[in-house]
Amino acid sequence: MEKPGRRNVLMAGGTLGALGALGVATPAQASSLWTWSPKGSVAGTGEGADPRRVWDPEADDLVASLIDRGEVPKVNKLLKKWTKNGQPLPDGLPADLRDFMEEARKVPSWADEGKLATAYQFNEKRGLYLGVTYGFASGMMSTVIPREARAVYYSKGGADMKDRITKTAKLGYDIGTSNAYKPDGEMIVTCVKTRLAHAGVRHLLPQSPHWTKVADEEIPISQRDMMVTWHSLPTTVMQNLKKWKVPIPEAESEAFLHSWQVAAHMLGIKDEYIPKSWDEANAQAEQVLDPLLAPTPEGIKLADMLLNLGAQLDFGLITKPVLGALTRYVLGDQIANWLKIPREPLWDPVFETAWEPFIAVREGLLSLEKAPGIVQKAYWAFDEILRLGVLLYLSEGDLPISIQIPDANNPN
Ligand code: HEM
Repeated sequence: MEKPGRRNVLMAGGTLGALGALGVATPAQASSLWTWSPKGSVAGTGEGADPRRVWDPEADDLVASLIDRGEVPKVNKLLKKWTKNGQPLPDGLPADLRDFMEEARKVPSWADEGKLATAYQFNEKRGLYLGVTYGFASGMMSTVIPREARAVYYSKGGADMKDRITKTAKLGYDIGTSNAYKPDGEMIVTCVKTRLAHAGVRHLLPQSPHWTKVADEEIPISQRDMMVTWHSLPTTVMQNLKKWKVPIPEAESEAFLHSWQVAAHMLGIKDEYIPKSWDEANAQAEQVLDPLLAPTPEGIKLADMLLNLGAQLDFGLITKPVLGALTRYVLGDQIANWLKIPREPLWDPVFETAWEPFIAVREGLLSLEKAPGIVQKAYWAFDEILRLGVLLYLSEGDLPISIQIPDANNPN
């Protein structure tokens, strides 16, 4: 895949950047107040401090010290061997890292095994839809979360986006497995490694001249940023499944939320910021996610890479225009326009009119014969899209992926 050339990106996004400067698409986050109450969190209580100024001090100090001590290459090599939740930590890790990880790998006392088992049932039943929504709702949305797009683009992983997407998809894969949080599963390992990677990014990005030039914060990945990204995942996925009228029993919906609440905790998000219910999650997302969505030159390039990656995975059976139309349908005109996704006169109306009836047919709520003609015509393509989602969602499971602590930024 073509590597991101910063010059091209900046040129491609120049017009949008100018619109931003004029205030047409200015992210509102800088001024949006934090009023969400910790009463709505899994902790039920807390100081209620604006998470914009809260990071992950324990992990951050530790990883900064590992980087400064030059121990990251050795640690990454050792951590490659640590893959299963129940596995002892490898010998030879620095003592301070070992102590931290022994604490960080503990699931919270409020984790509920029964709910996690139900979450697996949901993932198994709904894997088809989850693949598409993680990829084309969450993944695409991440490109219009300005802070995330910039952090991803200018950090070490930004130099090889395909590898980065694969590593990120591992988390989406691991959380859906039957043993996600059990000793033979891998989700805890993935979360702890990701927490360390994020701590590395917090230390390194402020040293990047590229990032500091465009960033609107001094240290990236605050607790607030983390919750924003979290909402682009489960909250957005569930909102879409509801919009598409996929029937979901209450217990499964709650269980899916629970598996993501545990993930948030394991990623180092404080319990007082993790919403306890979908109502609370939707309220928080409305406050922190919706107002900040905006285009950036970096995000536009990342979105283009995502669309190309999808088409490549399916060997071109589903082409970029179809995925572009899917993105427009899922995220709406404004975001699609921001991302410079062209209108598709053939496919845009097909998604508008046929996607929901297609779901109804798949769910046995409508017979194919009674469905509008357009559904019958588009059925094959839609089914193929769902399969592509599964490829995106599941194919990463077989690869020996090891999430690493970065020790440098993207040099480009
Ligand atoms: C790395 C997931 C929030 C920026 C990763 C990785 C995963 C992940 C799985 C490892 C992949 C890799 O090494 O390339 C998540 C989840 C989040 C979250 C589930 C929230 C619930 C954020 C936020 C930002 C961010 C808010 C920035 C604003 C990054 C960056 C890396 C990374 C820059 C790459 C480090 C590198 O270059 O090696 N994240 N992330 N993440 N994340 Fe996050």
